[in-house]
Amino acid sequence: MNGIFITFEGPDGSGKTTQLKKIAQELQKLGHDVLVTREPGGTAISDKIRSIILDPVNGEMVDQAEVLLYAASRAQHVHERILPALKAGRIVLCDRFIDASVAYQSYGLGVDIEMVKNISKYASSGLQATRTYMMDVPVEVSLERLNQRAGATEFTQQLDRIEQKNVEYHSRVRAGFHQIAADHPERVIMIDANRDVERIAADIWQDCKQLLEEHISV
Ligand SMILES: Nc1ncnc2c1ncn2[C@@H]1O[C@H](COP(=O)(O)OP(=O)(O)O)[C@@H](O)[C@H]1O
Ligand SMILES: [Mg+2]
Repeated sequence: MNGIFITFEGPDGSGKTTQLKKIAQELQKLGHDVLVTREPGGTAISDKIRSIILDPVNGEMVDQAEVLLYAASRAQHVHERILPALKAGRIVLCDRFIDASVAYQSYGLGVDIEMVKNISKYASSGLQATRTYMMDVPVEVSLERLNQRAGATEFTQQLDRIEQKNVEYHSRVRAGFHQIAADHPERVIMIDANRDVERIAADIWQDCKQLLEEHISV
């Protein structure tokens, strides 16, 4: 395997897509062949599965089905796109991967963590990222950014009952991401994403350049 597999993790609104695009541009400037992709999705089949997972009509979906649909989407994505790209020596930048399943389905929904990890491992044939940038922001900040992205004119500090519930759920997910980072210090870099876009990008780029140098010297 000659390529490098880099994932961006963290809650919605933490700035994953913003930073991933910037890093992709920097890599391309240096002449690297970059594949930018995302989960769930990344292939025609995975995108169909994504639309089932995210369709608000499917409110009756049980946790088991959700876990397995994410895994099915990932299996197709890994084997059809990511592994061939890595074999061809490309740098793959992926918006979310297995850590998201563990954070949202295990820490968020309460599905058994070993189960989620094992299902993910089967789906990905054991593929794991070389480097993961874990974008960390306080829950209120990510919710506020999402409101802004959705075009809301103003964010009210007073959260309603549903938003409160969301805050608890999102707090569990954030704690899950912290635990994953603590469990995998060899792979995961925690990024303080509650800062200026350019400063965050500079930190990520510094680490990424080092990763490239290590990769070349192996
Ligand atoms: N460091 C930052 N500071 C302020 N706003 C940001 C920052 N990074 C991203 N944003 C804005 O927050 C919103 C969510 O960013 P995005 O990159 O789409 O996050 P994600 O992909 O993690 O959901 C966007 O409107 C984006 O412009
Ligand atoms: Mg995004």
